[in-house]
Amino acid sequence: VPYSIGNVGPGFDRFGLCLASPFDLLDVVPSDRFRFEVDGDASVPRDAAQNVAAIAFRARWGTGEDAPPVRLRLRKGFRGGSGLGSSGASAVAGAIAAALLQGDALDSPDSVLRVVESAAIGEAFAAGAPHVDNALASLVGGFVLIESRTPLSAVGLTPHLSAQLVLAVPDLSVPTRAARAVLPSAVPREDAVETVGHAAALLHALLSGDAPRVGAHLTDHLAQPYRVPLVPGFAEARRLGVAAGAYGVALSGSGPAVFAIAPTGTARRVAVALLEGFKRSGVLAESFVTGVGEGARLSLLPATGSEA
Ligand code: HSE
Repeated sequence: VPYSIGNVGPGFDRFGLCLASPFDLLDVVPSDRFRFEVDGDASVPRDAAQNVAAIAFRARWGTGEDAPPVRLRLRKGFRGGSGLGSSGASAVAGAIAAALLQGDALDSPDSVLRVVESAAIGEAFAAGAPHVDNALASLVGGFVLIESRTPLSAVGLTPHLSAQLVLAVPDLSVPTRAARAVLPSAVPREDAVETVGHAAALLHALLSGDAPRVGAHLTDHLAQPYRVPLVPGFAEARRLGVAAGAYGVALSGSGPAVFAIAPTGTARRVAVALLEGFKRSGVLAESFVTGVGEGARLSLLPATGSEA
């Protein structure tokens, strides 16, 4: 299950974009009883009662039911607390595993939404809020627009942008819970009006395949301004990224990762600029270039017999 960018600029909790990489893997193997283990990212809870993948698995399986005799092994593809939807990817993996084990082929909108709601229970445990922008994007791929949260309804779009996605991940941990705690419960009307304008324009640009305008509308007044103080170097990274040719730069989800939409052929230069921006604030960062992902994938491997 690939990671994702939540919010995508002005779409707080409503827009999500699936990344081609990194991703988590969840192995599901017959066993004598339910077992759960995690490989990688030492900060991820190993205890099933505390882990988003196992929580989402239980939520989709049914908490009143005995857990099935399988071994779940979650292999983390990147560290959490970075704003790349790590917990969303794990939660989706857990919920998909439970759905498939119950014979749900995930071939209807209802079963997809059910998996997302189960993943949201994992997200709520991790982040304190059942936001689904990351989980839905990781599950279905492409760009997602959440039309309504209660009841959940959403639209998926396949962006056709001639551009590259550049990610820079500073060596800071900003748990989503902490980044949500700094958000005010009310915002000035003008900020809301501006953000609605940017969100609508971004969608229009996305549907028109206009990458420069998508980048130009990565502007948010509802969450990002309150989170920037948690990410030293962000303002300079954005400034240098744009100076290096990026169409736009914004926090990925709740940060501290940032993403840039960059013209094809400039990704390396933009990546260097983002890293330099963080460096000027004394913050180490790593960068990578990726594309838009296609969502969760299932691989069925030959049975090797049940294991104890
Ligand atoms: N929409 C979520 C937030 C994404 O901004 O808190 C978390 O990565």
